[in-house]
Amino acid sequence: MSSTPSSPSDSIAGGSAHANDSLSLQTRVVSAGRPDRNVDAGVNVPIELNSTYLAPGEKGYGRYGNSTWTALEEAISSLEGGSTLVFSSGVAAISAMLSLLPRGAVITTSRNGYSGTMVLLRQAEESGALEVRYVDVSNTKEVLAALPGSTLLWLESPTNPALEVADMPTLIASAKSLNIGVGVDNTFATPLVQQPLEMGADIVVHSLTKYISGHSDVILGSISTKDPALYQRLSDLRKIHGAIPGPFEVWLSLRGIRTLGVRMERAQANALELAKRLSNHPAVEKVRYPGLPDDPHHAIASSFMKGFGAVISFDHKGGAEAADKACASSQLIAFATSLGGVESLWERRHRWSAESPTIPTNLIRLSVGIEDVEDLWRDIDNSLRASL
Ligand SMILES: Cc1ncc(COP(=O)(O)O)c(C=O)c1O
Repeated sequence: MSSTPSSPSDSIAGGSAHANDSLSLQTRVVSAGRPDRNVDAGVNVPIELNSTYLAPGEKGYGRYGNSTWTALEEAISSLEGGSTLVFSSGVAAISAMLSLLPRGAVITTSRNGYSGTMVLLRQAEESGALEVRYVDVSNTKEVLAALPGSTLLWLESPTNPALEVADMPTLIASAKSLNIGVGVDNTFATPLVQQPLEMGADIVVHSLTKYISGHSDVILGSISTKDPALYQRLSDLRKIHGAIPGPFEVWLSLRGIRTLGVRMERAQANALELAKRLSNHPAVEKVRYPGLPDDPHHAIASSFMKGFGAVISFDHKGGAEAADKACASSQLIAFATSLGGVESLWERRHRWSAESPTIPTNLIRLSVGIEDVEDLWRDIDNSLRASL
């Protein structure tokens, strides 16, 4: 493992086997970010608990670098490409990215993105820091029409919680041809399903809280980029603003990422099966899952994604009250917010006042875990029937 990177190339330098591009992504989740293979070295990096380092040296102080962060950064870099910085949360990573923009910058983004991002954007609009153009990201023509004059195209795809899919290859190429920056929130898809930097995006953000850590036990975020100057600005910003992660949380995330491949495989298979069954359920008005052949986003998702993720949203026929009743009735699926853990979770999104007004009030978001699919279905079916 290299020491704390001072430039993007440092973090993936060294030619060690774990950083080898010839390995599949399924292997890299297991092998990247391990200690160098010296006799008696551990196979896992330790949790480095140090607030300061002996001088003179490059590390200097605990807010500037930590070897446990570096290991996770290497692992994510090896999946997304580029180089990575870990942050204290997904929202901290998004805030860092937004704070790089000059005053008055124009962002084109989804009108249905993650509610926390939408709040950040609305606040930036209200203070006059940014101008935001809200679009339907799955309507390629609408996005292309909004691009001229934009500073940044900010894509979240699939969107949370409407599960709309943007034509990322087309939109990223078009934005780049106009010299517009592109950032992607890849939390829902994960790098195993799509790699935005490889499509030409400048920045990829993750809420590592979700699939990458995978066990609903940490809050963390990351930013990856291939641009050395951008990496340096973000690294300086993290030092100065101080949105740094705790080494223990980072170590848990490293432990979690080792099983990302098998977790995603199982969760996505469960999600597809449950989405099919939900489509025929008497309590369900509409299922939103790009893996369903009749979903409006299926064709475009199939054209470039290597999976469809493991979040399903559906609209309850009985309205908001019945949707709340269903979520509160489950015995196995936890009635809780968040997603991406091994355990299934669901909630009606509009129980949060920050949820976008364009999201139906009866929409339930179900994060499908890795439990036995028949047990999940029994719980869903019972809960929905109890809510009618
Ligand atoms: C798509 C997406 N991006 C970012 C975030 C924010 O991440 P965190 O909760 O780690 O700050 C979330 C949280 O739900 C999310 O769903």
